[in-house]
Amino acid sequence: MSIAHRFGSYGGQYVPETLMPALAELEAAWELAWADPEFRSELASLSRDYAGRPTPLYRARGLSATLGRDVWLKREDLMHTGSHKLNNALGQALLAQRMGKRRIIAETGAGQHGVASATVCALLGLECIVYMGVEDIRRQKPNVERMELLGARVEPVEAGAMTLKEAVSAAIRDWVTNVETTHYIIGSAVGPAPYPVIVRELQRVIGDEARAQILERTGRLPSRVVACVGGGSNAIGMFAAFVDDAEVELVGVEAAGEGLESGRHGAPLTVGGRPGVLHGSLSAVLQDVDVHVIGVGRIRSWPQHGREPSACGDAERADRRPQMLVPVRFDGERPSVREFKARDIGR
Ligand SMILES: Cc1ncc(COP(=O)(O)O)c(C=O)c1O
Repeated sequence: MSIAHRFGSYGGQYVPETLMPALAELEAAWELAWADPEFRSELASLSRDYAGRPTPLYRARGLSATLGRDVWLKREDLMHTGSHKLNNALGQALLAQRMGKRRIIAETGAGQHGVASATVCALLGLECIVYMGVEDIRRQKPNVERMELLGARVEPVEAGAMTLKEAVSAAIRDWVTNVETTHYIIGSAVGPAPYPVIVRELQRVIGDEARAQILERTGRLPSRVVACVGGGSNAIGMFAAFVDDAEVELVGVEAAGEGLESGRHGAPLTVGGRPGVLHGSLSAVLQDVDVHVIGVGRIRSWPQHGREPSACGDAERADRRPQMLVPVRFDGERPSVREFKARDIGR
């Protein structure tokens, strides 16, 4: 086994027995594909000609002037379909095609990963089913319409809070049933091994490009690299390229929702979520007093207390950890950008 399955005590493969052969098959196929120049070259040319890479690095003039220091934005929003999710979906769909699996399932919350999956399936002529909570379907109608236009079937999930967590569970149930014919494109650095490593490698193009671009533009490395942590895929993709640069501070930003004290937030790494098994791996999980899962810290390599996440999970690099986790609070529907700027960029 050359792919990391554990990051500290986190990670692993906590799945029904029926999925174990599929995970082994996926890992073997990934290792062969990633070492195959033909696969890499097909991914690189589609990333360039179809998806629009490299994305620009933009010096945000207004923000830089306000803050009195240069702020550079890695414009993943300018990729086809509007987010970094396509990096992962494209790589995994090519892998599925190579494995002879023509039925794709995916989960989505905000809809970006669903749209990215539907797009690559349309490109490669694969069947696509996207699991989505009913509440998210209501909130993200335009993305649902986009997926359907691209020929995907959006499967509504009614369980629990009817959002992303339940959509992932439904996708895993589908995978257990249809594993022979189906590849599950997980949308972030989550799930059982080998998924977190696959997603990290497919997303590290963000960090590799950004590092080269900032060096070309400024002649030096940035003092800080900041990324939001939802499932952790853009963060791990960005951090992976800077892990060996000791002078670069790595900052992960979590959602503080209605406030850390309210218990209604998405910041398990900041508050130190309790270790728990969810969606096939062990990680920092927000749980209530009855040990019901209410949220999850999704970078696999986050250690138990959640404050020193290992930047990309490789054991040999575990000394390089993002130094800060910054919870960003939401006031009602609006992120309190002022708090983020003042506390964390403006200093
Ligand atoms: C545009 C965008 N950025 C970031 C995220 C967070 O995901 P991740 O932490 O996997 O990058 C999402 C999740 O849907 C997203 O749509």
